[in-house]
Amino acid sequence: MKSAEAARYWDAVYTERPTPEEPRPNARLVETVAELPPGDALDLGCGGGGDALWLAGQGWRVTALDVSAVATTALTQKARARGLGDRITAVQHDVRASLPELRCDLVTAHYFHTPYDQDRTPALNAAAALLRPGGRLLIVDHGSTAPWSWNQDPDVRFPTPHEVAALLDLSPDRWEIERADAPTRTAIGPDGSTAEVIDHVLLVRRTA
Ligand SMILES: C[S@@+](CC[C@H](N)C(=O)[O-])C[C@H]1O[C@@H](n2cnc3c(N)ncnc32)[C@H](O)[C@@H]1O
Repeated sequence: MKSAEAARYWDAVYTERPTPEEPRPNARLVETVAELPPGDALDLGCGGGGDALWLAGQGWRVTALDVSAVATTALTQKARARGLGDRITAVQHDVRASLPELRCDLVTAHYFHTPYDQDRTPALNAAAALLRPGGRLLIVDHGSTAPWSWNQDPDVRFPTPHEVAALLDLSPDRWEIERADAPTRTAIGPDGSTAEVIDHVLLVRRTA
């Protein structure tokens, strides 16, 4: 799908179902990052902005990218309303096209999935290359479907964290896998119902 079409698709999603006024951060982000010293973070596919707002509240300077201008405009407004406007730069951008020229200490990509085919690997590799030595790449993917997921195919197979890692350009002399597991969590759907779901969590650290 071309950038303009993807932007229209996700703008329609966020127009039809506006992002929450108080978006919550993703659980895996909080448990992974809470103890890290703040620095510069890049959030790929920031969506409702719960992760960016939480990171900024922890002292991080966040560049939040999303192909939907509806999402990034809403995030900019929420950041300003919370006095975090100087810590969050929310930009409408297709990460497949390019990435900002910045150096960072954390790249996060949470549930960076689309209901249409999209090769995200080049963008993840490009984002990883922006990390300073010691910086981390955190990729959290779905590992199971919820009743409200767009994909209800009973045979769907989600790549494991190690399979995701294998697709990336992570030579062992420069990268260390710190975490690759599949924890469960109770997720809340759009209608407020809950379900147990599996996350696929990959955390890698740039060592040199
Ligand atoms: C399933 S949502 C996840 C949003 C958020 N990270 C979260 O955890 O709730 C995927 C997000 O990726 C964004 N996205 C999809 N393709 C993109 C692309 N090529 N460049 C930038 N953002 C993209 C969508 O607009 C959407 O906000």
